[in-house]
Amino acid sequence: MRHETPAPSAPAPAAASPALAAFKRAIAAELAARYPLSAARCEQRGGPLLDQTSHAVRWNWPFMVTTARASGASIEELGGARLHDYWQGHYANVLGHNPPLVRDALAATLADGRGLQTGMLHEVEHELAELLTQRTGTETLRFTTSGALGTFYAVLIARAATGRTRILKAAGGWHGSQPFGLKGVSPRAGRFDHLESEGLPGSTGADLDLVGYNDVESLERAFARDGGQFACLLLEPWLGAGGGIAATPEFLRAARRLTEQHGALLLCDEIIAGFRFRAGDVSALYGVEPDLLILGKVIGGGMPVAAVAGRRKLLELCSRASKRVKFEGGTYSAHELSMVAGLTMVRHLVANERTVYAGLAARGARLREGLERIAAELAVPAWISGWPNEAVAGSSLAFVRFGAERGGRPERPEQMVGPGAAHPHVDDDLLRAVLLLEGVSAHNGLGGASLAHTDADLDATLAGYRRALLRLREAGLFAR
Ligand SMILES: Cc1ncc(COP(=O)(O)O)c(C=O)c1O
Repeated sequence: MRHETPAPSAPAPAAASPALAAFKRAIAAELAARYPLSAARCEQRGGPLLDQTSHAVRWNWPFMVTTARASGASIEELGGARLHDYWQGHYANVLGHNPPLVRDALAATLADGRGLQTGMLHEVEHELAELLTQRTGTETLRFTTSGALGTFYAVLIARAATGRTRILKAAGGWHGSQPFGLKGVSPRAGRFDHLESEGLPGSTGADLDLVGYNDVESLERAFARDGGQFACLLLEPWLGAGGGIAATPEFLRAARRLTEQHGALLLCDEIIAGFRFRAGDVSALYGVEPDLLILGKVIGGGMPVAAVAGRRKLLELCSRASKRVKFEGGTYSAHELSMVAGLTMVRHLVANERTVYAGLAARGARLREGLERIAAELAVPAWISGWPNEAVAGSSLAFVRFGAERGGRPERPEQMVGPGAAHPHVDDDLLRAVLLLEGVSAHNGLGGASLAHTDADLDATLAGYRRALLRLREAGLFAR
């Protein structure tokens, strides 16, 4: 493995559980003193709102800061503290929070007497569809409101088109909370083959087969064994929640070749990757054309938009004439305000493609290289991901997780997620809490830079990160 971090050598006392518990109590108390309004709000919020939030990943131990407002690279906490934010709207915001160009477009739409009249055709839906299909080399698309629905519909189309029911999925992939994605997301004891939820249709376990991410051999074995039975291979060309890892060109190209050979469809979930690395799909950078491409996040410009795009022949299974697949839309599908935000964002990314993506890549590189330097200096076993590769020239992502014994640049999700190889004490929760004390709002160990992050923001973040790691190390948490 390249760039391995030496195992920590500091002879600090091992973090026995009473010491760890005391350390955590101290961090919790410090956080409550630093962000008293957020702490109080979290205590009050118990009752009607289950677990205080409608998205589990927005919660963090011991409490999460509540945002008063946000702009560009930062969010402002209720008490007025500004935090450098790398979560950036679940990685939807490549220009930063509340970009003026999208806000102005939304305000102008409302001022024009449009925006909240869902239920009728409007012009903007067509314009965004035209731009997205042009930029992704697809023939047609249909919008929906969430990535989970997008991947769900894409699998329905694949099953209808092939007359097969089995789905091959790359382990570590997160495709939203829908039945065809709820296996092989996060490993337990190094294994991925459990279901992620109760209540699924009885056939889910048998319908979903797994291959290792970036594991060409496991892909070849799966197709050699059961190739003729798979409706589709569902994967992320850039693994998001599973670790921020780019597909290797060999893996993605083998995925294309084998699906074609065996009559299965290739479904590329680019809900994180689409329009994040270029003004279009990332698969194109590999020379790979998926049968169905699922987009979300960035294409909504901060609003709930997802799309399933592909060849007309496939999407037509959902048409008024065919009606074979019930992907017919929902109340808020292609909501005019969402379409306006998406169109404004995508037009901007297309018009400024060179500067936007070079800028994002430079910010990501600065973060990853800085983190790698800090981890080496402090002899902390950090796995740092988000690195570009031969196909994808640059990336704004910088994910971090701490290994039980060593770190480096990960190639597989097992190195980034799940408890198997994780550090016994320093998990994402604790890291996030310590980073909040440094004015950094992190996710997946840090997250994604936006174009709004300045060099000064990034350097302040790295300095805060260094202090946070030093603090964890001084508490003995990185000692073996
Ligand atoms: C790769 C990927 N696919 C699908 C989804 C689900 O999208 P949504 O949260 O909009 O349902 C996500 C969300 O994080 C994602 O990262």
